[in-house]
Amino acid sequence: MNKDTIEGMNFPPNILQIFTLIGEFADKQNVKACVVGGFVRDMLLQKANYDIDIVIEGDAIPFAQSLSKELNTDCHVFDKFHTAKICINGLDVDFASARKEIYEYVGALPTVTLNATAKDDLFRRDFTINALALALNGENRFQIIDYFNGLDDLKNGLIRVMHEKSFEDDPTRLYRAVRFAHRFNFRMEPTTWQLYKQAIKAKVALRISIKRVAAELTKIFQEKHPGKIINQLKRAKLLSHFPCNIELRDLNYDCLKLKEAPDVATVYWICFLSFLQFNIRNSIIANMGLPHSMRLKIDDGLDALKKIPKQLLDLHCEDHIRLFDLLEKRCPEALAALVSFSLNKENINKVVYYTKHLMGIKPEITGKDLIDEGIEAGPHIRTILEYITELKLDGRCLTKQEELEIGKSIYKNIRS
Ligand code: CTP
Repeated sequence: MNKDTIEGMNFPPNILQIFTLIGEFADKQNVKACVVGGFVRDMLLQKANYDIDIVIEGDAIPFAQSLSKELNTDCHVFDKFHTAKICINGLDVDFASARKEIYEYVGALPTVTLNATAKDDLFRRDFTINALALALNGENRFQIIDYFNGLDDLKNGLIRVMHEKSFEDDPTRLYRAVRFAHRFNFRMEPTTWQLYKQAIKAKVALRISIKRVAAELTKIFQEKHPGKIINQLKRAKLLSHFPCNIELRDLNYDCLKLKEAPDVATVYWICFLSFLQFNIRNSIIANMGLPHSMRLKIDDGLDALKKIPKQLLDLHCEDHIRLFDLLEKRCPEALAALVSFSLNKENINKVVYYTKHLMGIKPEITGKDLIDEGIEAGPHIRTILEYITELKLDGRCLTKQEELEIGKSIYKNIRS
């Protein structure tokens, strides 16, 4: 046990309150509670992290349920994982029972035994820096629990697996090791590095599903410099689920000044997947298990990368209507992928011109306003709205009243 405590750490007061509250409740329930995982690591590195994972030595579900009753908040129980979530002081807090894991074979999801100790629970984790805990009650209240020398590794910038079967048990840790090393500018300690290389040689990563690899890559795409991480994974042949020669660099689309920030992981996915040959791409994407909303944006982005560069070639910024028509339906992620990945400087300027001056231009009035003015419902409503949009794209400033008048006069012409 290490004597480090959270005294002197710069905690937001709401988090300290949450920990005090959970600790006191755990005392009353006579169970041991501690914070585990990324939160403790990041707290010690003085980095903000609001993912609070609590491990209870005992059954976490009734614990979370009675705590939520006392706090008068909802408790969401996830039976499949035997975990629960409560929102305390505006923050989501996850509760899990301490567990032991056994891996039946390489790449399998583990068989879980509950009724374990906090030490068992910490031992099943990926790296020593992620196997630190913060006790919330009992005699070690607010002390760091460091069974596996994670504190030293954190101080020395080392990624160290907990045991020699770690990468075999869970090959996603190969991806996590590279991701954490880049994020914190750490390195794998020599034995871990040897085990990493052995696991790669034994092709253990091929034994996990593309879905699990995709989930790891989505996390990588949220890091600061995904390009470097992807290149390291490529060199290590950890991208074999994606048979193509990927050359990903860090993307930058700040020039677009988009009001609606694109989802950065989706932008990276668009660029990454564009390397795959068209005939295998769809079946790979279908097996990746990405959320449907992300999938739609990826399809839009890939379509944009294929078509837009050619379509922009003979188009000038002054041709507002054509530029608008070309880009209006594209999602922000597709625009971001275009400018940071596929277009030349001249065409980038056209997309930037669109996002700065044209994007979002639309009539003040709606179809309902026109109907309220006595115009019959029908396809001409759309024609009127498109005509007004074109006037505005041409630089006309129109009040709502003027738009209505224009609408009525077009309708009159159509009718006569
Ligand atoms: N964990 C693990 N093996 C994995 C995934 C997760 O041991 N393959 C454990 C680690 O203890 C990790 C914790 O589960 O700290 C939470 O996992 P996750 O939320 O994925 O990672 P974080 O460490 O919180 O990292 P991040 O900051 O990227 O969210």
